Amino acid sequence: MQQSNGSRPRPIPRVTVIGAGNVGSVVAKHLLDAHLADVVLVDVVEGRPQGIALDLSESGALVGYTRSILGTNDYDDTADSDLIVVTAGLPRKPGMSRDDLTQVNGRIVMQTVRAAIARSPDAILIVVTNPLDVMTELAWRVSGLPCDRVMGMAGVLDTARFRSFVAQELRVPVADVSALVLGGHGDLMVPLPNFATVGGVPLLHLMPEAVVQRLVARTRNGGAEVVELLKTGGAYYAPGAAVFQMVAAILQDQHRILPVSAYLRGEYDLKGLYLGVPCRLGKGGIEQVIEVGLTAAQRSALHQSAAAVRATRDRAMDALLHKPPLPV
Ligand code: NAI
Ligand code: 2OP
Repeated sequence: MQQSNGSRPRPIPRVTVIGAGNVGSVVAKHLLDAHLADVVLVDVVEGRPQGIALDLSESGALVGYTRSILGTNDYDDTADSDLIVVTAGLPRKPGMSRDDLTQVNGRIVMQTVRAAIARSPDAILIVVTNPLDVMTELAWRVSGLPCDRVMGMAGVLDTARFRSFVAQELRVPVADVSALVLGGHGDLMVPLPNFATVGGVPLLHLMPEAVVQRLVARTRNGGAEVVELLKTGGAYYAPGAAVFQMVAAILQDQHRILPVSAYLRGEYDLKGLYLGVPCRLGKGGIEQVIEVGLTAAQRSALHQSAAAVRATRDRAMDALLHKPPLPV
């Protein structure tokens, strides 16, 4: 539990969710449903966060919320947050890649992270905005926080998609399926079928390789599949649930091992970028980056994914960091 202004312990954690859009609203709802934290929802659009907060608090009369929710356009209301989730930015449209959002979302991420961290300098940051791995590095750079306190959400979502496709294919409960997806949150992500199990039985014993490869391809395309169906906007229920799992692991000091976008310092022979790898999460943020043994093909695929993240980062980062800040 974090100390408030270095004085007495605050019994109820505070989570700020930046961006009261689809993903941000689902994150806020999960936090309230679980009675996990007081929530501050902030957005640039006047009325939007206030409206979502009002609606959620009225639903609390029916389902019995014990934590508060505040909707606001003023970052002063976010002060002294324990954890900040950044969902502000534009989602993809059909046909767009996540990388197409780099410049516009980069400016939004810089502006919102600066404003929030100025009021909560001891917070932990979870970035959701796409392109995920590059936006997470940008958030880390402008926040001035240690890298262990800044991470991106993607691997939990990509892994959930892989698990749900396996469960549907085998007609087994999804809770029995365990899996791992590494790499950047893009088309080159690296699902690891040889790490997947169903009730402890290796996946590769349960289905032919060709079916596994079909599910791997569907996982890589999981975000785009939802975008194509919805026509406007992207997925938000599974992303919101994935963020909630990370927030709970941190606030409740669960020491869970989850795949998150973390800053690499030589792990997997990669350094100086954010990329999806398994990490142990606890109250300090990322407690440990875990290296798993990869085949030569998986290692090469992970390095290709890292190269794609680096290419987007190198095209965008300098220009973004030298742009004048957006007004808050
Ligand atoms: P949305 O459009 O529903 O919500 C975005 C919200 O951000 C809007 O309410 C908008 O007003 C707000 N916003 C824009 N500029 C802002 C600013 N300067 N300050 C504060 N708020 C601002 O979009 P959605 O679906 O919630 O997605 C949000 C982001 O998350 C997108 O970039 C999307 O691609 C990304 N995403 C990432 C996932 C991942 O796995 N990492 C999964 C799902 C979405
Ligand atoms: C997703 O994977 C759009 O990145 C988002 O659903």
